[in-house]
Amino acid sequence: STVAALASEIAAAERVVAFTGAGVSVPSGIPPFRGESTDDDAPDPVWETYDPADFHRRRFDADPAGFWSDRLALRETMYGDGVEPNVAHEALATLESRGHLDTLVTQNVDGLHAAAGSESVIELHGTSARVACDRCGATQSADPVWERVREGERPPTCDCGGVLKPDVVLFGEGLPDDAFDRAQVAARRCDVFLAIGSSLTVRPASILPEIAADAGATLAVINLGSTARSGEADYDLRADVTEALPALVEAVETA
Ligand code: OAD
Repeated sequence: STVAALASEIAAAERVVAFTGAGVSVPSGIPPFRGESTDDDAPDPVWETYDPADFHRRRFDADPAGFWSDRLALRETMYGDGVEPNVAHEALATLESRGHLDTLVTQNVDGLHAAAGSESVIELHGTSARVACDRCGATQSADPVWERVREGERPPTCDCGGVLKPDVVLFGEGLPDDAFDRAQVAARRCDVFLAIGSSLTVRPASILPEIAADAGATLAVINLGSTARSGEADYDLRADVTEALPALVEAVETA
């Protein structure tokens, strides 16, 4: 089968990189940004309910109070009363602990890979667990700041007087240099690149599968539906991550 063939490539590989997107967290109850779902109960994609322009860097600069109000609503839509890792996150942590996964690059800001036990994680789009001062750069834990925002402090400010910003990459902002550099090096050096639960449409993160494939890696796409790179993938697994990833990890063990 396809899973068995991919599993033996992973078992034989020297370096494997996994690259994840919102689809990995959908089974935790977090909506995706775009794309189809097979589950009628699944939440609507975020960019069908919200306007991405409201979360653009320009909006933050022009109207930080309004930005934080919209961000509070988005946070409640995405995380509700809290979210936990699912079996897909756990399968990737298992793959790493068994020595078959070197680097996990994620576009997600929910922290669920680390919560599941993954250690070598590059958070390309930052993390919702922190906020950073837009003036002095100091970071702090997000939870107490969200409490202040709920109580009406909009925008929340730093001790230095600067405006705080969620420590995530907004549209219109570049990726953290160090994170993107490390992700590119990992993509260039790996033998197998697994793109999981991502539409592979948002640049520059979406060029990583191409970098890996151009450098000779086997490219596997694991996603419910078609992605921007499905056509050129060596393996195009159309599957739910909660089924495909545990099955893949099991197959690597017996490969
Ligand atoms: P997308 O929402 O674009 O893609 C998620 C993909 O996962 C879609 O193709 C879904 O069909 C698929 N999917 C959903 N549930 C799944 C499941 N259970 N099993 C397998 N696949 C499933 O999310 P990303 O590609 O991560 O950027 O989006 C990239 C970036 O766009 C995000 O990081 C965010 C967003 O705007 C920033 O915030 C900077």
